[in-house]
Amino acid sequence: MVSPKDWEADMAESILTVASRDLKTMAGQTVRLRGWVQGKRSGGKVVFLLIRDGTGLCQCIVEGAVEDAFAKANEVTQESSLTVTGLVRLDDRAPGGAELAVSAIEVLQISKEYPISRKAHGIDFLMDHRHLWLRSPRPAAILRVRHTVIRAIRDFFDSNGFTLVDMPILVPGAGEDRQSLFPVDYFGEKLFLSQTGQLYLESACMSLGKVYCFGPTFRAEKSKTRRHLTEFWMVEPEVAFAELEEVMALAEDLICAIVAAVLEKNRPDLDVLNRDVSVLEKIVKPFPRMTYTEAGELLRGSAIRQKLEQELEQEKGRLQSLIKELEAAEASLATAKKGWQQEKQETRVRELREDIHELEQEIAVRPEHLRLAQSFAWGEDLGGSDETLVSRQFERPVFVTEYPRDAKAFYMKVSPNDPRTVRNFDLLAPQGYGEIIGGSQREENPDVIEASMKAKGLRPEDYSWYLDLRRYGSVPHGGFGLGVERTLTWLCGLKHVRETIPFPRTMGRVYP
Ligand code: 4AD
Ligand code: MG
Repeated sequence: MVSPKDWEADMAESILTVASRDLKTMAGQTVRLRGWVQGKRSGGKVVFLLIRDGTGLCQCIVEGAVEDAFAKANEVTQESSLTVTGLVRLDDRAPGGAELAVSAIEVLQISKEYPISRKAHGIDFLMDHRHLWLRSPRPAAILRVRHTVIRAIRDFFDSNGFTLVDMPILVPGAGEDRQSLFPVDYFGEKLFLSQTGQLYLESACMSLGKVYCFGPTFRAEKSKTRRHLTEFWMVEPEVAFAELEEVMALAEDLICAIVAAVLEKNRPDLDVLNRDVSVLEKIVKPFPRMTYTEAGELLRGSAIRQKLEQELEQEKGRLQSLIKELEAAEASLATAKKGWQQEKQETRVRELREDIHELEQEIAVRPEHLRLAQSFAWGEDLGGSDETLVSRQFERPVFVTEYPRDAKAFYMKVSPNDPRTVRNFDLLAPQGYGEIIGGSQREENPDVIEASMKAKGLRPEDYSWYLDLRRYGSVPHGGFGLGVERTLTWLCGLKHVRETIPFPRTMGRVYP
């Protein structure tokens, strides 16, 4: 005879384990789901569990009549792991359009005092708990967009005749500038973490024509800005026989492909992030183009000043209304009932305080940004605030070309029509996000490169192999680098780049 326990096990064997994302197609079937308790609500004789399984959320209804499951549902806490078995019912109100009427629960582990609760936490606390924070809706949404972006990048190059070639991470010298190198002790020799795959990629380009590399990149940036990481991911294409315009057209097509993929696959995620998608829907070819010199004129001109002054007025107005809202929220917090209502008000108050703090900071730096813009001098690189101001003038990404030679890297081709400038571009994302791509046509003449190296304190003898590329069948070529995290910051509409990478490394953080 079969014991009831064995019978249960047999039944369990024959039940399909499903993903919550597929639930809607399984109405009327009894299925099993594995996951974590994201939320829980009790209403007398029924417990509602919100289960996260990695593919989505599933609302599970546990009725008091199902005694064993009901007892377990009452026992489980936030982030407890479990499997639930139940009947799939369609319900438009449930996330994903279907819910589970639970018949059995198997608890894998009760999670004790999960540190991240529904109430608001500060960013430092959340970053200290990044390993757990990743489970929350917002980081998870960003990770999904990140996945789409990376996949769109690879699809784009793979379907346009490019070969992926991986580049070294331990390198003997600078690929960009000497200031941001991370030294590594390599058996007593001093090496560095790679700042770019570009120089090596140029050699692969002379073999395979159209190539790209995609890997981690390291810069010892001593700047604590919203745009800087010390470890980030960069994709770099390099194309033989391409001149500047062709490289720019490639960048334009790449950005359009990335935006299209995100709009196709991540609308629910953008919704979680409160990203205004209409802004992204405007990203179509052609992108505006201006020279560095024109950008300088724009910065010094009256249009920028007027716009800034206008925005400052708007911001001050917004600040006033936020302060009013905060006062109201604080008042209702004082009278809120303990529990859920109080948590919600606390979160609101905290959010408002953060928004106000940020807005006050913005307002405080505006005059300085205006001063920097109006006194912009030809010859210096565009600063962060200059990029913000220029890119705020456009709804699409804007190309800024032909920067001063002294402000840019040694490998850029000197402009034939103006030797003070180089054949390069930066692509600035709109809404003030600033540079997301840097690229150029490369200098072909070894003598010109040597002179540029010396001017920047680099020793040509360290780059003999690189100069070889200009000695044996040199051809026009060029490429660019797109920073994945900067691009994501813009696409997701975030204030800071640190949320776009699973475990950010910045000057102030390497843990966890
Ligand atoms: O403009 P960059 O320095 O260009 C290069 O490295 C070239 N070698 C690329 C090439 O032509 N193959 O960097 C390219 C991009 C920037 O536009 C930005 O998006 C990103 O890399 N980036 C950073 N992202 C996050 N944190 C930092 N510290 C970054 N520095 C650059
Ligand atoms: Mg750059």
